[in-house]
Amino acid sequence: MSVQASKTDRFPVITIDGPSGSGKGTIARQVATHLGWHLLDSGALYRMVALASAKRGLPADDEAAHAKVAETLAASFGVGADGTERIWLDGTEVSNEIRSEQAGNGASRVAVMPGVRAGLLQRQRAFARSTGLVADGRDMGTVIFPDAGLKIFLTASPEERARRRYNQLKDKGLSANLAALSLEIAERDQRDASRAVAPLKPADDAVIVDSTSMTIDDVVARVLELAAARFPVK
Ligand code: DC
Repeated sequence: MSVQASKTDRFPVITIDGPSGSGKGTIARQVATHLGWHLLDSGALYRMVALASAKRGLPADDEAAHAKVAETLAASFGVGADGTERIWLDGTEVSNEIRSEQAGNGASRVAVMPGVRAGLLQRQRAFARSTGLVADGRDMGTVIFPDAGLKIFLTASPEERARRRYNQLKDKGLSANLAALSLEIAERDQRDASRAVAPLKPADDAVIVDSTSMTIDDVVARVLELAAARFPVK
């Protein structure tokens, strides 16, 4: 597959990739808010493909049908009255539904399909804005925005990531079991890192940040420090 031109050499882009529960989502949101940049939550797109495919009753192994869902996904992102991120699929709000572990595992399964990844490629690049973009995912720095000005690979120990995911789900009032989450995270890491297309791995020019013993504020400060050096204010 030829790599199509990305807008990353024209617009400022920070990519934040890493495994489940590394804190990418929280960090990306805070960095984007701080800089006044746009945000791409690419995992939400894969979660929506899985959800839309399940709702349509598509056979799990029908890649062409899943790819069609990815290409035509009626997804929109916005902010609710309380300032939190809201996501709609086919006009129905799915903000909470897509955050379940079931949706995450479904996303990880459809994400191995090259047709699904190709179907979402241009849609993800279209998030780039002249004001700047913070893109969070698994292949933002390696495939979607290879020319990004700053690439972060955010990681943390598997135990710490399971604990964070557990607290996140509890805070949202969703059910969670720490032992089951640890197993699911290990399985998902394995699937995301071993798939043939766009596996989870740091870009050659990524800065690796291990957040195991860092607070969210520490990580945000570190990314902003790197951003200030890479994107000096003119
Ligand atoms: O970041 P997340 O947990 O919302 O992502 C859910 C799944 O989607 C993840 O297990 C792998 C897949 N994904 C991907 O393959 N590529 C991305 N850029 C983002 C997510």
